Formats: sequence, C-alpha cells, structure tokens
Amino acid sequence: MANIAFVNGKWSPLSAATISIEDRGFQFGDGVYEVIRTYHKQPFRVEAHLARLKISADAIGIAIPYSFSEMEKIIRSGCQKTQFSETQVYIQITRGMAPRNHRFPKRVRPTVVMTFRKCKTPSHKMRRDGVSIVTVTDTRWARCYVKSLNLLPNVLARERALKSDAMEAIFVREGKVMEGAGSNLFAVFGRSVITPPDGLHILSGITKSMVIQLVKKQGLRMQEKTLTLRRLATADEIFLSGTTIEVLPVTRLDGKIVESGQPGRITKILYEAFQEEILRV
Ligand code: PDD
Repeated sequence: MANIAFVNGKWSPLSAATISIEDRGFQFGDGVYEVIRTYHKQPFRVEAHLARLKISADAIGIAIPYSFSEMEKIIRSGCQKTQFSETQVYIQITRGMAPRNHRFPKRVRPTVVMTFRKCKTPSHKMRRDGVSIVTVTDTRWARCYVKSLNLLPNVLARERALKSDAMEAIFVREGKVMEGAGSNLFAVFGRSVITPPDGLHILSGITKSMVIQLVKKQGLRMQEKTLTLRRLATADEIFLSGTTIEVLPVTRLDGKIVESGQPGRITKILYEAFQEEILRV
C-alpha cells in the first residue's frame, strides 16, 4: 500500500490528504509533533511518545482531542493498513483552523494529522563508517523540550550540515554542546559516557533515555552533564541517538577525524544492546 494519512478522523492516501490554508499550523507553526517508528510492525515506545506529545501540547495550551488509548488505536490501525516492512508515523497537532489572528481563537478544534510511510533508516555505509557532524550556533528558543512545529533553526542547521557533507548539525550555546537538529548527542571518554542533560535547550529524547539505561546496564559510567565543544573535540567516541537513527556512530566532527576515524567499540556495544532491546518488542 502507498503512504496514508489520517486527518481529523478521515483516512486517505497521503497524496490526497489536505488541510485548510487557514490552519494555524500553516499560518503560525502553532502546533506540536512526534515521530514514532515500528519494529516488527509494532509501534515502538508509543506510550513515551504520547506522553511527550502531551507535554508539548500542554506547554502551548492545546488540548489533544483524543485520549491516549484512542491515539494509540489510530496509530496501530495506520501501521496495520500500510504493508511496509516498518512504518514511520508522523503525528502533528495544531491549534486548528481560524482566520489569521495571533490571539488564540475562541472556539477551535485542534487539527490532528498522522502520516504513515515507509521508515527510512541510515544506510549500511553510515553505520559501518560513521557519519560527519558539524557544529552551529544555537539560535533556537528556550523551550526546546517542546516538540514545536517551528523548526526553522533546525532546518537551516541541517541544510548547513548537508552543504558541508555532514549528516547532522549540533547546536552549540556559549561553548557548550546541546543536541543535534534532530538527534541527541553522546560522547565517550574511556569507560565514561557523557550526554548533556535534558533542559530548556535539549529535547528529552526517547532513544536518549533508553541509551542511558543501556549504558548503565553495560556497567559503564553514565554522566548527564554539561559538555563543552572543546572537550567534545577530545572524545574517544561520539554517537547520536534518535528514533530512526537509533545509535549512530560519528567519525568526523567539524571536518576533523574523531579518534581512530572508525566507529568506536562502546558505540558498537550500545548499538548491539539497542538491537537486543528491540527484539523484546
Ligand atoms: N527528531 N533532539 C531533537 C531536536 C529532535 O528533533 C529529536 C527527534 C531528538 C531525538 O529524540 P527521539 O529519540 O525521541 O527521537 C532529539 C525527530 C525524529 C524528527 O524531528 O524527525
């Protein structure tokens, strides 16, 4: 089956799905989103994604018009309708449709959109050789724990990365490393794994929290603490985490080779531990 969409209760092929140009998601980026993927055709960590979606929606005063279990049903039903080996689900909730005016409309029903398409994952080469990242100044707002539709700084940062043949851009704020345009960042120093702590400028990644648990399970030292770019440049290993990239090794930082230039040993161990975790689904 082709890509499909769910828009306010109606299913259609993705190419036929439409919303009004007066939707506030289109006019103001007034909405929030989530990205979920399936493993063995089952949506992965759906409760955690829905909980984060609620945190995002609450933060901007949108009441999600479906209960968690209704949302989960829709997600599962979409994943069943597609015949893809694995599906990527994009969920977007906006404040709804109203004539353009900055103030919140009085009576408005939030727009709920979900799209279901084949899950895109990193290539074999990216996993084998690792990826390049570049750093950019963090120009985002101070509520990055909200998965807001306003992704212009992320879009521009990612474009900058791609122009430098890098896969991801990492935001740096006053010399401190935050996260990627669409991923969280980890660094390995000996047997210590460091990731910058969740906060105003770092999304609480679902994959990140899984990786933190896996690090501890491996008997390694896990530290959620500030990481300067200077220190990152001396890391033994660097890797990214995210829903579709899972645990992805980084072998170049701002054009310079990270340690041996090959994906690191601990990164590989964590990637394998992550794969075992998936088998439990
Ligand atoms: N990105 N940080 C940012 C800024 C992100 O946008 C994402 C996810 C992550 C990783 O979070 P998680 O492990 O929960 O996927 C961290 C999604 C996939 C996106 O925007 O497409």
